Amino acid sequence: MRGGAAVHCRCIMTKPPIAALILAAGLGSRMKSSQPKVLHQIAGRPMLHHVAAALSPLGCDPVIAVIGPEMPADAVPPAVGSVVQVNRRGTGDAAKIALPLLEGFCGTVLIVAGDVPLIRDETLRRLAEARDGSVIAVAGFRAADPTGYGRLILDDRGGLSRVVEHKDATVEERAVTLCNAGLYAVEAQRLAAWLDQLKPDNAQGEYYLTDIVALARREGLTVAVVEAEEAEVLGVNSRGDLARVEAIAQNRLRAAAMAGGATLRDPASVFLSWDTKLGRDVTIGPQVVFGPGVIVADDVEIRSFSHLEGAVVETGAVIGPFARLRPGTRIGPRAHVGNFVELKNAVMGEGAKANHLSYLGDAVIGAAANIGAGTITCNYDGFTKALSEIGAGAFIGSNAALIAPVRIGADAIVAAGTVIGGDVPADAIVIARSEAQIRDGAAQRFRARRKAAKTGKGEL
Ligand code: UD1
Ligand code: CA
Repeated sequence: MRGGAAVHCRCIMTKPPIAALILAAGLGSRMKSSQPKVLHQIAGRPMLHHVAAALSPLGCDPVIAVIGPEMPADAVPPAVGSVVQVNRRGTGDAAKIALPLLEGFCGTVLIVAGDVPLIRDETLRRLAEARDGSVIAVAGFRAADPTGYGRLILDDRGGLSRVVEHKDATVEERAVTLCNAGLYAVEAQRLAAWLDQLKPDNAQGEYYLTDIVALARREGLTVAVVEAEEAEVLGVNSRGDLARVEAIAQNRLRAAAMAGGATLRDPASVFLSWDTKLGRDVTIGPQVVFGPGVIVADDVEIRSFSHLEGAVVETGAVIGPFARLRPGTRIGPRAHVGNFVELKNAVMGEGAKANHLSYLGDAVIGAAANIGAGTITCNYDGFTKALSEIGAGAFIGSNAALIAPVRIGADAIVAAGTVIGGDVPADAIVIARSEAQIRDGAAQRFRARRKAAKTGKGEL
């Protein structure tokens, strides 16, 4: 189909509806990974999910990811449909494979590379709006180092005439620093005809989606360029790119945390996740790592070298230094978790303390309970996990081993070194240690014997 003819469309709307395609099937060979590239994570979340999240506020319908056959079904974000591209024949081929799922759609199709995870919804919205006055809008950016990117070649009047891939570009074209960000808004009714005309006659032998620009121009149509910040549209093709993009994502998250009222004493050394929630007057020491799913209430202090994931920390609690909170942990208000204490699927009540060297797994610890140094909940027998319940106000002496299932009543005392399972009533003292034997002078006799044996003199 030539000459700007459009498929008949019955939609009459002031603002065209938007559908979205996420191109996510590429092999990512430069990553040298057995994992699909778009599943590599930025700030604790796969790149593909970042892109889907940026699209989400635009209300696109449908949103379709073009994925490779090795992508696990549950890796596609919720509310995103998918279609499999078996032979990776290029971005143009990937878009074409999704077309049957856009049957009957008229409006704007946003086509977004799945390896551009820092993209923000405002920029995608700007791109979709720029399409209103032209048949295609392409996002461009000024690259500090354009190597590898497609270049946007402008005409005399500043319009976009075509996109040339780095590998196909002449020396003069390579000197152009205005690059293709890999994000496009295209008039739906014309897309299929352009994709049908693509030819793999280029350096990579691929069907380039970018060639639709020249096809539109040949029909006398205009193509808009929307400029974006380089930091927002960096593409991830290698592990080096992944690290660069992660650094930008971390800086954004740190800035947002501080803007929300948290103190990061050494921001550059705090590693956050996309969903980390920090309250006001939270203080984070240097070298703290947040995995996904952490919520920290107001007035909490998290000291250096702590590692948290899937945990809720309530107001006024103090965590670390060197604490580890694993998934399913909830630390009550004003509770303390000190150095080398690990909690997993454990709830600590208000004001409870576990200050030194403990493993507390599958445990419910009452308010104001005190967990002594070296306390271990023995929660796993090699087959199943069992619960340790420690009542409010209970005192667990150092080096106690609590063999789950175990229930320590409120205000009970477990003596240091005790190994205990089953039930301990409230207010009881439990002590389970072998009796000490004290042999007067035995140390001296022992040393004399050992010394003699070593020097070979005297009897053993
Ligand atoms: C592409 C653009 C380039 C642009 C750059 C921006 C083309 C031809 N080139 O290059 O102009 O500057 O992005 O980041 O489009 N994909 C598939 N199926 C395929 C091939 C790719 O789904 O057969 C997906 C990839 O998973 C990726 C995206 O499309 O998410 C872009 O592919 P990639 O190979 O990374 O393209 P670039 O070489 O970076
Ligand atoms: Ca890329």
